[in-house]
Amino acid sequence: MIHNLLLETCDLIDHKRQRKITISTKSSHSDLVTNVDQEIEAFLIEKLTQLYPQTKILGEESNFEIDLEHGQTWIIDPIDGTSNFVKQGQQFGILLCQYIDGIAIEAYICDGIKRDIYAVRLGQGVTKNKVKLNPEYNSTFENSLISMSPNFFLKYVKQKEKLIRECLGIRYAGSCAIDGIGVIEGYLGAFSIRIAGPWDIAPHLLFAQELGLVCLNLDGSTHTIDQKSPFIFGQKEIVERIIAYC
Ligand code: IPD
Ligand code: CA
Ligand code: CA
Repeated sequence: MIHNLLLETCDLIDHKRQRKITISTKSSHSDLVTNVDQEIEAFLIEKLTQLYPQTKILGEESNFEIDLEHGQTWIIDPIDGTSNFVKQGQQFGILLCQYIDGIAIEAYICDGIKRDIYAVRLGQGVTKNKVKLNPEYNSTFENSLISMSPNFFLKYVKQKEKLIRECLGIRYAGSCAIDGIGVIEGYLGAFSIRIAGPWDIAPHLLFAQELGLVCLNLDGSTHTIDQKSPFIFGQKEIVERIIAYC
């Protein structure tokens, strides 16, 4: 059901990006929103409300005040990686997560160009394009590529040179969806970011739970959806190693 909705959403994004895109800024010159973000969010709200008439919706572009603790809520990021969408036409995704009474039940990360759909269900593991995914994570810090936002690196990493020298390399896609997929697939050892909204990170928390990955704060505690603070998502040993450089 949601798979088809995501494929339909990718088609719609593709169709809309052939036309003129209107770009505005939100909190700063680098916080972009386009008409496509808003129209895709409206489309997803309409479709999810048809499928789940009782649901509340927490959407990045709708700014709804939502109490996740009671009843059903779908959390939506219609285009994650808007600046990539605007500048490169790639490296963006769609993020969806369903909460019931404060618990994440299912979530999706969709690569907007490749159309790969990563799905997770509480207690039932992870699929990629409906095929069970059983990744084995055994990277070492030394052989890992690490995704890290420049803001995280500047503000929180104390031993900057040491970190750069000791890991395999640093990358950053600029989309929680695309960087998240890298961690799920195992080609990134971890993904670190300074701050994220609930729509950016809700799926990752459930993927971490089901795949034996972690999503930690800098004090080593588990990151939660309501925290507006830096976190690292990835393989436990690698996340802990990054924390040690901070
Ligand atoms: C952003 C991207 C980016 C992250 C920002 C998010 P948006 O989402 O995921 O990687 O660094 O914190 O806000 O605004 O493009 O949906
Ligand atoms: Ca986002
Ligand atoms: Ca977005």
